Amino acid sequence: MKIQKIKGTKDILPNETETFLEAEKTLRKTMAKYGYREMRTPIFEQTELFIKGTGETTDIVNKEMYSFTDKGGRNLSLRPEGTPSIIRAYLENNLHKKRIFQKLFYYGRMYRQESPQSGRLREFRQFGIEAIGSLSPQIDAETIILGLEILNNIGLRKVETQISSVGCDKCRPFYKESLKNFLESKLNLLCDDCKRRFEVNILRVLDCKRETCRQVLKNAPTSENQLCNECKDHFSKVLDLLQKSNVHFTLNPYLVRGLDYYTKTVYEFISPVLGAQDAVGGGGRYDKMVELFGGPQIPAIGFACGMERILLAVEKEGKAKIQKQHFDFYIVTMDEKTDEKGFLLLNELRKKGFVCEKDYLERSLKAQMKDSDRLGAEFVIIIGSEELGNNEVTLRRMTDGSQKRVKLSIDAIVEEIRNNYQEQHKN
Ligand code: HAM
Repeated sequence: MKIQKIKGTKDILPNETETFLEAEKTLRKTMAKYGYREMRTPIFEQTELFIKGTGETTDIVNKEMYSFTDKGGRNLSLRPEGTPSIIRAYLENNLHKKRIFQKLFYYGRMYRQESPQSGRLREFRQFGIEAIGSLSPQIDAETIILGLEILNNIGLRKVETQISSVGCDKCRPFYKESLKNFLESKLNLLCDDCKRRFEVNILRVLDCKRETCRQVLKNAPTSENQLCNECKDHFSKVLDLLQKSNVHFTLNPYLVRGLDYYTKTVYEFISPVLGAQDAVGGGGRYDKMVELFGGPQIPAIGFACGMERILLAVEKEGKAKIQKQHFDFYIVTMDEKTDEKGFLLLNELRKKGFVCEKDYLERSLKAQMKDSDRLGAEFVIIIGSEELGNNEVTLRRMTDGSQKRVKLSIDAIVEEIRNNYQEQHKN
């Protein structure tokens, strides 16, 4: 039986890897512009970290974690998200004592045992930011502006920003209560999952995608009307800053997010070209996690975006650039003797910074030319026995088929290209 990859995982082949690398380069450049510095935390952590951080009533912790006991009897989990690890590391390494306000970002693989579908994987890549230490609404607005800029720079044109406020410890209980009153008489119309959510975390009912539940929720009370003055004030300042920064957003009073830790502002970046899994990113404020992990009272806000989902959306928008490695030269040889010369020339060209390739399969001239075409090499250097006898090579430009005999020397080849092809080659 052939061994196959695990359901919900993905092999990323070279062309696609190059697309990822390009997006990652853009990501890091944009992060630096906003003052975010990269942090790398382990892929597995104590399970307790996510129970406490992500929240024990969440689907992520309840149903989706890859947890295991190691040989030392420790209960560990592959990280399903980055936020709890960043806060743990922030405290463990005393970053708050070094500078009270920290802007951190991460990029890496996350693991959730969800049912795989388009845009939903069990191993996926997320980049995220955490701005730790400020209560300012400016930071809420800035994270949204940054998120949109990264998505845009990666190539996504159509992104809808949905925003809401889930309030704080003071006002959320009132909202939960009014939701409970509203849903109590309609409980039998809800799906089994929502019946459970009603008991353990009623806000999560608002997140249900089932049409029957959505109908029930049509006239449900919204959190906005139940916010305390502090949360209301904070939220209106965030919205005002976004408006003044020309950021388009939609108020979605039922946006609750799938994680337990949020306070005040929450938001999601939605791509209209994706199907059911249309959130390319999401985040919000979580002012209690640092304290919950035993640290001082330090507020925080952040977001994370799914890289596979973004690239899928870019592709669906039809603007994806197909990444293909560029080759300056392909060296074609004829026999053992010319082949060795070709190998030595190849190494010399690489030392000069050129990207080049040759044949290693002793293939025919025709097959080598075909291979160079497949790789999209700009020039082919042919070393036949006649060329070798004259200490020359044939230099052929593939775009127009023009060719010329040139001395078999790296300097002569480079000079020829400089003088006659005016290419902007590295040297
Ligand atoms: P999240 O909404 O769970 O938030 O995930 C953020 C993004 O990760 C989603 O919008 C989606 O693009 C991507 N994603 C999530 N699950 C999958 C999956 N199974 N397959 C593919 N992509 C997926 C968080 O993770 C929070 N840590 C965000 C945050 C940071 N909040 C505050 N700071």
